[in-house]
Amino acid sequence: VEVIRTASAREAGAAAAAVVANCIVENPRAVLGLATGSSPLPTYEALQEKNLDLDGVKAFALDEYVGLGPGHEQRYRHVIRREVIQPLGLRPSLVRVPDGLAPAPEDEAARFETSIRCAGGIDLQILGIGTNGHLGFNEPGSSFSSRTRVVELAETTRRDNARFFDSPDEVPTHAITQGLGTIFEARHLLLVANGPHKAQAVARAVQGPITEAFPASMIQRHPHVTIVLDRSSARFVG
Ligand code: F6R
Repeated sequence: VEVIRTASAREAGAAAAAVVANCIVENPRAVLGLATGSSPLPTYEALQEKNLDLDGVKAFALDEYVGLGPGHEQRYRHVIRREVIQPLGLRPSLVRVPDGLAPAPEDEAARFETSIRCAGGIDLQILGIGTNGHLGFNEPGSSFSSRTRVVELAETTRRDNARFFDSPDEVPTHAITQGLGTIFEARHLLLVANGPHKAQAVARAVQGPITEAFPASMIQRHPHVTIVLDRSSARFVG
């Protein structure tokens, strides 16, 4: 596991953007995995400044809420359009987000998994980390071999994400997420974390016991991981 420590979230974003840019320059038809949430925002912003040609890049979202109304601005398909597709100039038809309103969400999850396989797998998966150690919405207890599926969100996650909604009750109870096994198959994992509230989770991911009780600990087994941290999230990393 390569750990890059930086002074600020902005610098962490620049360092992570350099990793993404490198991947795309090497392979203009690269397949990216896209996390949402606040952690990767500085990365997407720094990438924007690079003015890369992303026309051939394919991307898969890491996860999506189940059941948010079609126009709800927190649907990850809308978040990704606003924060990634539009500013970076990705081709919308090459970006796949699970449909959280599919009549049979489990079938949609299976189709999503197939789409990743058909694209040849993910070259670079961008990840955040939950304060409870989740990756995607794989909450503690998720199997390391899990595939894309419907999951129930942990109460801590719903609380953590309530800041994006008008009221805590509005946070969905379920999501479709790439499984831990799916994530593990990405050829390169790029995990970004910022802020003191992530310091403990980051340390457990990097140097704690490898256990399904703390999903992010899985990264220690992956052959190619880059973690980019700001100063405060790196505090407990030895
Ligand atoms: C988002 C996702 C989540 C977040 C995590 C951290 O697509 O899958 O695992 O990465 O909850 O969220 P932030 O970055 O908002 O602290």
